[in-house]
Amino acid sequence: MFITFEGIEGSGKGTVLARVEAWLRGENLPLFRTREPGGSELGKSLRALLLDARQDIAPEAELFLYLADRAQHVYRHIRPALAAGTHVISDRYADSTIVYQGYGRGLDVEELFRLNQIAVGGLWPDCTIVLDITPEVGLARARARNLREGLEVAEGRFEAESLAFHQRIREGYLCWAARNSKRSYVVDASVPPDAVFAAVRAVLAPLLHLA
Ligand code: TYD
Repeated sequence: MFITFEGIEGSGKGTVLARVEAWLRGENLPLFRTREPGGSELGKSLRALLLDARQDIAPEAELFLYLADRAQHVYRHIRPALAAGTHVISDRYADSTIVYQGYGRGLDVEELFRLNQIAVGGLWPDCTIVLDITPEVGLARARARNLREGLEVAEGRFEAESLAFHQRIREGYLCWAARNSKRSYVVDASVPPDAVFAAVRAVLAPLLHLA
């Protein structure tokens, strides 16, 4: 199974992924945990470029960097893992491009779908968990984390975007999830971490044939 986690900054993807990973490893499932951008060696260099707040990157340049990161990630890691029977859980994937570059930056969503289709060779997740939270709460969490970790500029580019941008991202996720309702599950991420994990587990357990 290929499972992806999506959501705005501060929606708690990292926390949930760590919990899901611990749970599935405890069940002895073969598992590969990864993330975008930066899931491959090439991707690490691309991630550094993409998240550098000092760069004035054209939306189209940004788009192709994300797509390059994803193409390499799928080719080098995700496809081989799935072919070997390993479950893959990823912090972000193609839906991030559709939502951030499409609903967020205003690029054409249908065109983004086609470009992603090329980048991933038709590989879409079996299940996508969308962690839903208001940008006010999400950004306050992300800022607190950045301060704690001393990340001010380099990893803070998207956090520095306006509230209106993040509002578009949140609504974009909800809209895109509704258009992809077979594989998308929207989970309320405003509740405490234990409750978020319980909701995610309730979605994944039957899909993975776990009690
Ligand atoms: P990251 O540090 O992974 O943030 P988060 O903890 O929120 O996942 O940074 C990834 C950033 O890149 C995030 O702000 C969303 C953005 N992004 C896109 O704009 N398009 C994409 O295709 C991907 C994968 C990420």
